[in-house]
Amino acid sequence: MGATTQLKYGDNSLTLPVRDGTIGPSVMDISKLYAQSGMFTYDPGFTSTASCESQITYIDGDEGTLLYRGYPIDQLAEHGDFLETCYLLLYGDLPTAAQKHDFDYRVTRHTMVHEQMARFFQGFRRDAHPMAVMVASVGALSAFYHDSTDISDPTQRMVASMRMIAKMPTLAAMAYKYTIGQPFIYPKNDLDYTSNFLRMCYAVPCEEYHVNPVLSRALDRIFILHADHEQNASTSTVRLAGSSGANPFACIAAGVACLWGPAHGGANEAALKMLSEIGTVENIPKFVARAKDKNDPFRLMGFGHRVYKNYDPRAKIMQHTCHEVLTEMGIKDDPLLDIAVELERIALHDEYFVEKKLYPNIDFYSGITLKAMGFPTDMFTVLFAVARTVGWIAQWKEMIEDPSQKIGRPRQLYTGAAPRDYIPMSKR
Ligand code: SDX
Repeated sequence: MGATTQLKYGDNSLTLPVRDGTIGPSVMDISKLYAQSGMFTYDPGFTSTASCESQITYIDGDEGTLLYRGYPIDQLAEHGDFLETCYLLLYGDLPTAAQKHDFDYRVTRHTMVHEQMARFFQGFRRDAHPMAVMVASVGALSAFYHDSTDISDPTQRMVASMRMIAKMPTLAAMAYKYTIGQPFIYPKNDLDYTSNFLRMCYAVPCEEYHVNPVLSRALDRIFILHADHEQNASTSTVRLAGSSGANPFACIAAGVACLWGPAHGGANEAALKMLSEIGTVENIPKFVARAKDKNDPFRLMGFGHRVYKNYDPRAKIMQHTCHEVLTEMGIKDDPLLDIAVELERIALHDEYFVEKKLYPNIDFYSGITLKAMGFPTDMFTVLFAVARTVGWIAQWKEMIEDPSQKIGRPRQLYTGAAPRDYIPMSKR
């Protein structure tokens, strides 16, 4: 019998197994708690609850570190490219040169979508939010790729994974082109993943489009930063959807839907709108006061995190990338960046934010960077979804391939009406 801990409640006590991870907090295994005690645990936001065992990503919130399969995010962002990170998250190790070449080849040759998908887009209003289009079109992939929806077949699971990673940029570019009334641009197999995406977004049939290598490298790094992040809300959504046996395309569509929320992946769009609403450096104190006011629902978007109680390591790399892109685009002084830098400085010295350990997160600088690259604000979360697809699919595969996997079905604390008899209409 391994380590255990005692849980005492009333005159009773229970012995609970304790499991240690490679690093990070240990867990008390409460899977038998209800059977042995007749009681549930209660943790609505899962602030102290591990929903699964995973070997993919690890975050140390106090230290502000993030590891993909044990490799620090800053080293992967500096030395590798996004498809190398995809290989690492999916297979568990960095690829050899031959493995990387084969993986890039396979992803590249899955980038086209079924030609009828183009007709699917015609049903949307031109002013539809691109995330609405993405939720629908990613789910619609289930209707086109029946040969990779059998989750019990490992080959189909990997084909579906490759298709998801490869087709998300194509769908994202189509969602963007549709909203601006330009024709869809097909992927080109002689371009790398991120250059292909930029060309599908910005090329027009009338002339050759040359991808800016500095912007392509910057966006590729941004994709690396967004690739995975333990059991965040959208990843947990994908896992829960997948636990019922739903096909991978439908599960990823559920993840896209969850990511859209402003408390999660929608924060990059909300953060840029907030900076625009603040408008000037002089207005910052007023908004900081609102963020601290319990009676005001306003929060500093791009600040705070459930896990990081230190600076989000991705935000540091994003800030560096922001300056790189602004320089490349010849933007000498961006008033929104001035506001962001001053807002960060003020917040990091304000006792409210210090006491609550609120630091900039990945979404604080990403909006300024993506805007400088020419993306409209409502495309920011779409780009987050493109990058996070590999994390969602890697976590989905890990769950499906876990022999102890079962359908997720939380319980509840019921505080509704006690049992009562029906009242006939004549007596109401
Ligand atoms: C992402 O989970 C992930 O890993 C997500 C993500 C990923 O890669 O998948 O990292 C991506 O979603 C980043 C977070 C993006 N969201 C935002 O930037 C939105 C603004 N941030 C907050 O809404 C908030 O910080 C959350 C949602 C991110 C975290 O919320 P928690 O962990 O539930 O914390 P909380 O709401 O309980 O806040 C703790 C305290 C509260 O005050 P008290 O009730 O204790 O007095 O801090 C305050 C909050 O009011 N607080 C903020 C604040 N964030 C928290 N006050 C002002 N501004 C903020 N941004």
